Amino acid sequence: MIQIAPSILAADFTRLGDQVKELERAEADLVHFDVMDGAFVPAISCGGGILSAVGSSSRVPLDIHLMVESPAEQVRLLAGLNPKIITFHVEAVEKPLELAREIRSTGALAGVAIKPKTPIEPLLDLLSEIDLALVMTVEPGKGGQRFMEEMIPRISAVAKAVRVAGLATMVEVDGGIDMNTIAAASAAGADTFVAGTSVFGNARGITDAVERLRASAREAARS
Ligand code: DX5
Ligand code: ZN
Repeated sequence: MIQIAPSILAADFTRLGDQVKELERAEADLVHFDVMDGAFVPAISCGGGILSAVGSSSRVPLDIHLMVESPAEQVRLLAGLNPKIITFHVEAVEKPLELAREIRSTGALAGVAIKPKTPIEPLLDLLSEIDLALVMTVEPGKGGQRFMEEMIPRISAVAKAVRVAGLATMVEVDGGIDMNTIAAASAAGADTFVAGTSVFGNARGITDAVERLRASAREAARS
């Protein structure tokens, strides 16, 4: 199953409600929401107030990506907003398994993200205990960066480990995903695709972007 998750970090914040509604019309599978704290990554993005507004503007389920040093606190703060998925970084916690269990206990699905330079093994070890593995395809912290081709073997390794173990864990990619790079990520085994700039910056509009991303990912997954 292919899932397209537009990242609202690239949305026009002066028209956020309209943009999120259009994601619903575009049949986006998830709304990806980046939370940054100015510590785990240099930038600060947005928190509960805006997340709540985004969540109530459409029926598209929320996919929260925590780029923060203290993800457990954010899980407690944001779980009440009924997100479908909460993902934290493996680099940010000492006991990822405990936090994944805590996320699941709130009713959300638990995701674990990994930065490009972090060895992949800690993520592979967690796959049977989590719902989503997020392989970053840029250094986290800002939108509009170039997709790192050298992440393809990591996507393949995670997807293979999921398949071999017969798991249903989703394999998500985030960073530099556009109509071209999505094909390579999909062929490598990713099934859930975060896309900011290529969706909200698309000259032909949000719906066109979501449709073309999905078509490109589907075709690559078949071949
Ligand atoms: C980057 C964020 C991404 C970002 C992706 O740290 O996690 O979700 O919004 O933006 P694009 O698709 O423009 O690379
Ligand atoms: Zn993200």
